[in-house]
Amino acid sequence: MSRRACILGHPVAHSRSPLIHGTWLAEFGLDGSYERLDVAPADLAAVLNGLAERGFAGGNVTVPHKEAAAALVQASTPVARALDAVNTLWLEDGRLHGTNTDVEGFLASLDAGAPGWDHALRRAVVLGAGGAARAVVHALLERGAEQVVVANRTLARAEDLVRRFGGRVHALAWQEAPAALGDAGLLVNTTALGMAGQPPLALDFCALPVEAVVTDIVYVPLVTPLLDWAGRRGNRVVDGLGMLLHQAVPGFERWFGVRPAVTPALRASIVADLEDR
Ligand code: ATR
Repeated sequence: MSRRACILGHPVAHSRSPLIHGTWLAEFGLDGSYERLDVAPADLAAVLNGLAERGFAGGNVTVPHKEAAAALVQASTPVARALDAVNTLWLEDGRLHGTNTDVEGFLASLDAGAPGWDHALRRAVVLGAGGAARAVVHALLERGAEQVVVANRTLARAEDLVRRFGGRVHALAWQEAPAALGDAGLLVNTTALGMAGQPPLALDFCALPVEAVVTDIVYVPLVTPLLDWAGRRGNRVVDGLGMLLHQAVPGFERWFGVRPAVTPALRASIVADLEDR
């Protein structure tokens, strides 16, 4: 029987998830589909309740529904509860389950792109304190970072992360970020700054040790101004596409029963698509 999965978002036309899952479906020769569903916030509950009836095995959840979906699923994993955000759904025993694979995707991307990045990681600096930062901070703590410094334009949101995750997380005002870079082993941008159409990050990163790994969750462009600068001065850099590709793996495995791989060929096809638009 053909198995169906989907991505729920609003808007959802820009999402590359259908291309990722479509590539894997073709690679395994599976009789399945992965569809875009543009769902307005007011309709989310009804759409989630109707997924089983419409024959879906599950799906992904993206902006702006991740928090709302977390409150609507009937069962959730510890990581989804820790983040209060769900990006992956599946039906099991007649109940809608939710988890969050962004943490796993972020870690797998760094493991692949900068092996050893977490070895004796004393301090990580995270720029931004929104939904993406929540997953990144959770991931860094899980991997054993001794200290995670979160710098955000709105200090109160960085302080929310300290309350959520506890004593190893420290909040800083945006302009104070450069002063925290001196002994950082990892710098992560989780803001939209540097994305096509947005201003670049206007901070002075010169104090960052050249041994530090630098990563950006922005993947349009693939080489953001931050990654370009860091790469040219000799830091190891990991672009944001890896997280997108790796977060998709567990969902595909749940819905279609086989664990796909993030290969250079998959990456190349997504890069070609990004360059086309
Ligand atoms: P996401 O789920 O992608 O993390 P978000 O929750 O809207 O999206 O968070 C966006 C992040 O980018 C926030 O940290 C935001 O800072 P504020 O909390 O102060 O809004 C940050 N951001 C967006 N535009 C910014 C700008 N021009 N300067 C600095 N930070 C910015």
